[in-house]
Amino acid sequence: MSDHADLSRRTFLGTAAATSAATLLASNAIGKEQPTTDSSASIGHSKNDKINMGVIGTGGMGHGHLRNIMSRKEADNVSVGRVCDVYRRRLNSALKVTDNPSDRGTMDYRYVLDDPDIDAVLIATPDHWHTKIAIDAMEAGKDVYVEKPLSLTTDQAIACRDAVHRTGRVLQVGPQGTSDGRYWKASKAIADGRIGKVTWSQGSYCRNSRGGQFNWHIDPDAGPGGTNDGFVWWDQWLGHKHGLTEKIPWNADHFFRFRKYWAYNGGLATDLLYHKLAPLLLAVSGPNGEYPKRVVAAGGRYLEKDDRDIPDNFFMMAEYPGEHTIMLVSVMTNDTNIPVQIHGQYGSIDFDNALSLSEQRTWWPEFRKANDDLLEHSMVKDENGKEHPRPAEGQAKLEMVGESRPDHMGAFLGAIRGQCEPACNVDLGCSTMVAIKMAVESYRTGQALRWDPRTEQIVPA
Ligand SMILES: NC(=O)c1ccc[n+]([C@@H]2O[C@H](COP(=O)([O-])OP(=O)(O)OC[C@H]3O[C@@H](n4cnc5c(N)ncnc54)[C@H](O)[C@@H]3O)[C@@H](O)[C@H]2O)c1
Repeated sequence: MSDHADLSRRTFLGTAAATSAATLLASNAIGKEQPTTDSSASIGHSKNDKINMGVIGTGGMGHGHLRNIMSRKEADNVSVGRVCDVYRRRLNSALKVTDNPSDRGTMDYRYVLDDPDIDAVLIATPDHWHTKIAIDAMEAGKDVYVEKPLSLTTDQAIACRDAVHRTGRVLQVGPQGTSDGRYWKASKAIADGRIGKVTWSQGSYCRNSRGGQFNWHIDPDAGPGGTNDGFVWWDQWLGHKHGLTEKIPWNADHFFRFRKYWAYNGGLATDLLYHKLAPLLLAVSGPNGEYPKRVVAAGGRYLEKDDRDIPDNFFMMAEYPGEHTIMLVSVMTNDTNIPVQIHGQYGSIDFDNALSLSEQRTWWPEFRKANDDLLEHSMVKDENGKEHPRPAEGQAKLEMVGESRPDHMGAFLGAIRGQCEPACNVDLGCSTMVAIKMAVESYRTGQALRWDPRTEQIVPA
């Protein structure tokens, strides 16, 4: 039995009696004939063309994106033509938020890909589905905004990277920090030699809560046996028919709190540290990032003693062939953060407020020479009228304003129209994913791990 037939039957048996006209209509697309992929869509939008988007996965983040797109409809000439979710409550809510009639909603993303009027898709499902939908979408001729992290596994990330290069479609990955102009400005400052050779950088993403991290609300009526709004197409959420996870009975904690389980994501590393690593890599290694050489992680489940797989304290170090190391911390039991900083031999870059450069006392002449254009009084004259760099006065702080860039959605729309590059392209998204996933595996196995660039596989260090 095909997925479609299976779903049509389950939907009918589970819900027909009690389902309201509105919710039945919302799932109408499900019973139609099998979609075919249309790869004939042309590549490239002109500046003024409307971009019609399909949003797949309309939970917390999907709704955030929907509201954002609706708020910039006119300004950016963008629309939402279809929405898709396997949970009917969220699907119906997405239809409402986008002012769409119910036949624009579906539980099967292939109907979105089959619609020739859809130019681009936004994927905000849990991580295990990201690259399957992204690759199917690109092969159907759509451009893709895929939420972070790029994937669940490194093989998926590489397959997606290769699919972007094969199809020539636009793909942007979701870490918004890569649209923060300060990181692009920092990248240029480093390339210009302003802080000397970078050897290490640091960042963190820490939180604290009373209710337990990621223990988000569970709708009591939700599930595969749910009626009306409560219906969940659980088999499709799992994706086991596509080899994405194991088939397991309905589990509300997995559905609503997937971040707690390895089967669907990598916990703090993929949920939070991906946000920190992608912009740091962009600044230090450039817009395509860099694959790590060796990664090691530590931590543990120090306070969250429920059934979760993931740690509540996570510490990782990624060492790169370009001879620098990135150290990242994510702690869910104390929200004190360490500042985001990049350290070079002559100075450091600080991202706390405005971007600033500070000198290393030992190397102040080199630092001041490299930053002469920014320092108002970097050179002083001695009594003989000879110029010298100003003597060290502790730390010289050079305020640099961030580059003005479009926001993350703006960068995606601009990239489709050929006006700019994606802020987080697939190469940066993939190299970030590899280091993050290696950290997850290092934590899980208790081993330091190495990336083999020839086979593109994780191997013991
Ligand atoms: N960039 C950011 O700041 C940010 C913030 C939050 C979440 N995210 C990312 O967004 C993704 C979603 O997170 P969330 O918090 O919104 O999760 P969520 O559980 O609230 O939403 C995910 C939705 O996807 C639906 N879904 C699952 N499989 C599907 C499929 N095959 N087809 C259609 N719909 C499907 C689920 O039913 C659910 O409604 C995650 O990968 C997360 O890392 C990014």
